[in-house]
Amino acid sequence: MEDRFDQLRQEFRCDLELAHTAKEVEQLKVKYLGRKGPVQALMQCLRDVPNEEKPLFGKLVNELKEEIDHLCEQALTSLAQIERAKKIEQERVDVTLPGRRSFLGRRHPILFMMQEVIDILRRMGFSIQVGPDIDSDYYNFEGLNYPPDHPARDMQDTFYVSPDFLLRSHTSNTQLRVMQAHRPPIRVAMPGTVYRNETISSRSHVFFHQVEGMYIDKGVTLADLMSTVQEFLSKAFHLQAEIRFRPSYFPFTEPGMEVDIRCTACHGQGCRLCKQTGWLEVAGAGMVHPEVLRNGGIDPEEYTGYAWGVGLERLAMLRWGIRDIRMFAENDMRLLAQF
Ligand code: PHE
Repeated sequence: MEDRFDQLRQEFRCDLELAHTAKEVEQLKVKYLGRKGPVQALMQCLRDVPNEEKPLFGKLVNELKEEIDHLCEQALTSLAQIERAKKIEQERVDVTLPGRRSFLGRRHPILFMMQEVIDILRRMGFSIQVGPDIDSDYYNFEGLNYPPDHPARDMQDTFYVSPDFLLRSHTSNTQLRVMQAHRPPIRVAMPGTVYRNETISSRSHVFFHQVEGMYIDKGVTLADLMSTVQEFLSKAFHLQAEIRFRPSYFPFTEPGMEVDIRCTACHGQGCRLCKQTGWLEVAGAGMVHPEVLRNGGIDPEEYTGYAWGVGLERLAMLRWGIRDIRMFAENDMRLLAQF
């Protein structure tokens, strides 16, 4: 009789040794303690056991049952612990591993140039004013003295968004706004994007960037304009710029001039870049036309002023030897990553 108990006990222990998962342990429990299991079968035998042995037999069956139950619970607990330890090990993070490098963005060369130019002008005493990209015909043309039939006003040259509104063709659109909002002395730099309806090529694009400088006060002269532009270009090109002024015409200046700088590639010898002239055109400039001052609410008998405007793409191309203006709008990482 007791042999049968020992034998069952042995069998169970062997089986338990082989159970490696919680599921296998649960199955063992059912196999031994279930309704069709050997322990239940022993219970059935209780009837046939002689009366005096019944208490002992019952006790042994209960002990066996409790033992199996207890061992199963123990196995389940330790399996759960192993499982947990494994999971923690798998999810371990090595905080001493070197991190992945993040990609650093860079400033676009035009933004770079604009910030540098603004910085230079700030140090020269100019404050910054920003005008609208979409503006009225008045601020872009009419108020600046453009006659109604001026070719720049043609749809061929300027993008109109309605009969009276357009994409500004130059940052000079900000001149009158500043004059109307401030009393002289006025010393402002006006940066921004400008738009022209041109055929796109290596030298021209439908949008580009300008920075305009303007100074209005009592007794401002052409000599002030020339020395300021000289100083500004020297700083922008990081060299003592040799410049020259050529008479030119802008409706909003009197007189008007174009500013050339000694060719940065050949230093005046004559090359392809400067078309053998030794000079590169970099800015438009002039004394503010009395009519424009008047439109800005400033008395031209009392005040005079100058203004000049430079194209940032042009400056950037000359400074870094970039041959094609289209590159600035193409977002080619091979170019952008160099700045
Ligand atoms: N607005 C002119 C242009 O875009 C440049 C300019 C600015 C000329 C100020 C004279 C004075 O060509």
